Amino acid sequence: MGKCDTAPLADDVWSVMDSQITLDLEKLPGLSLKGGAGYMAGKGLAKPVLVVRGQDNNLYAYENACPHGGRKIDPVQGEARLRCCSVNHSTFDYNGKVLSGPAQHKHELRRLLTSQADGKLLISL
Ligand code: FES
Repeated sequence: MGKCDTAPLADDVWSVMDSQITLDLEKLPGLSLKGGAGYMAGKGLAKPVLVVRGQDNNLYAYENACPHGGRKIDPVQGEARLRCCSVNHSTFDYNGKVLSGPAQHKHELRRLLTSQADGKLLISL
């Protein structure tokens, strides 16, 4: 089955309005660390959304669903890659491009646009 390391974020640190997620970075010190990650689900989201602090220190957001079979995604610690939690472990670069695994025959991992303002991360759905 495979196992994910990334945990859901607490409900009180994020909200959804007008097709945009607002995430309060000041309440999420774990996301200031390279490799830090969490995901959001519910509140009307069509699919869970993963947020990752990359090894390049940028924040990234993705639909948290592998294009191969829909399993969740984790960052690979210490490396600038993401990995599907299924036993097949497809891997992706930070743009969502498939690097290895069965997802190569599918579409890319869907990356979501982000911006930051006033200590908040804004994610466009
Ligand atoms: S669901 Fe991700 S590799 Fe199969």
